[in-house]
Amino acid sequence: MTNLLVLGTQWGDEGKGKIVDFLAPAFDIVARYQGGHNAGHTVYLRGKKIVLHLIPSGILHPDKICVIGNGLVVSPQAFFKELEELKALGVEVKPGRLLVSRSAQVIMPYHPLLEKIAEQSRGQKMIGTTCRGIGPCYEDKAARWGIRVGDLLEPEILKEKIEASLAIKNKIFEAFGNQPLQVEPILEEYQALGEKLSPYITDVSVFLSQQIKSGQSVLFEGAQGALLDLDHGTYPYVTSSSCTAGGVCTGLGLSPRDITGVLGITKAYTTRVGSGPFPTELKDEAGALIARKGDEFGATTGRARRCGWFDAVAVRYACRINGVDLIALTKPDVLEELTEIKACYAYRYKGTLIRDFPSEPWILERVEPEYRSFPVWSRSIHRQKDWASLPAGFLDYLNWLEDTLETRIGLISTGVDREDIIYRREEFQKILGQRAELLA
Ligand code: IMP
Repeated sequence: MTNLLVLGTQWGDEGKGKIVDFLAPAFDIVARYQGGHNAGHTVYLRGKKIVLHLIPSGILHPDKICVIGNGLVVSPQAFFKELEELKALGVEVKPGRLLVSRSAQVIMPYHPLLEKIAEQSRGQKMIGTTCRGIGPCYEDKAARWGIRVGDLLEPEILKEKIEASLAIKNKIFEAFGNQPLQVEPILEEYQALGEKLSPYITDVSVFLSQQIKSGQSVLFEGAQGALLDLDHGTYPYVTSSSCTAGGVCTGLGLSPRDITGVLGITKAYTTRVGSGPFPTELKDEAGALIARKGDEFGATTGRARRCGWFDAVAVRYACRINGVDLIALTKPDVLEELTEIKACYAYRYKGTLIRDFPSEPWILERVEPEYRSFPVWSRSIHRQKDWASLPAGFLDYLNWLEDTLETRIGLISTGVDREDIIYRREEFQKILGQRAELLA
């Protein structure tokens, strides 16, 4: 049994899309377990850039089945829009190849509206969310008002639930000077969307359990990143779902024993979209250069990402709470134009050195990063495809990262294209067994 969890170890945008795309040949199924169309997985196919927000990026491989688990919040409109975009690129998706959990939550038209009100009310302390209704939809799930995908197929139940929701939400809209919403148009629209969605709807937990039992391999595709996890991230500046390893079990209806390995995707520097503490943030020319060279603009919202030095305190924490077996390091080539490269190995707080990631945002806002400095390596690693050709300076940097993170690095992404990858097959054999032979 080989089922690999692939997740980001920072604040998202680590380059998961490309790594999932690389790993896909070794798996039969790619399953997402949390989040919604707030994610932005950028993949390049035959030189064309594709950004997937909701559908697992494994969909670009015609022989893979892709799964959207119960842990997601699904916008049916975003789902069909993405299918249309894929079709335009020549990727035809038949229902049997894409499954949506009956128990996933549905993003309703009132969710983005509520989010705008909540964000505006926070003023200076706004989260800087993607404004796609993700948070309010998860709020409704926890408050037990949520509408699930299966409800879309039962008009009476759907009507009852929309009525119950709007009875409260319309009071909020009115209090904030917005027009109340009517039940009937929403009911009509979502009933129709339910019918359109019905060929894709299934019991994902049963499906995956059967597939795993019969020897199929699943790749669990994390969205966002460990530091945006609702419980373990930089709360309250987080997303509303469980991006970390535990989310796989709750978000797909599987057992912890079904996860046989964990690959952490780690960018060679740090980025963050939206508000919240960011100890190694660079507000100078070095940060601007990283942003420019790394094309650091949000794949979902187009917002400029905040950029900073690599933060080993944060990544070591992410490796620990997720049990990361192996790291895939992305975008180190972006650092090559700098005059020096820095990486933070500890924080100083009130005169004390701390190596464990603090959970309080007000501490994170006040820590001083302690840096180790590295010279820029002598030869470019951009688009390199062979481990043996990596310059000594870069290998020194890699060794330092491995020691500090207490985790092996098994893959390096050296450019944006699919082929710009160097990996250690023997390390992948440890987490994929014989399936490592299926990697390109
Ligand atoms: P939400 O997920 O829209 O609720 O946004 C909450 C926070 O997570 C905001 O800071 C967003 O910018 C951030 N966020 C959500 N999805 C992603 C992502 O895929 N990459 C990076 N940041 C994200």
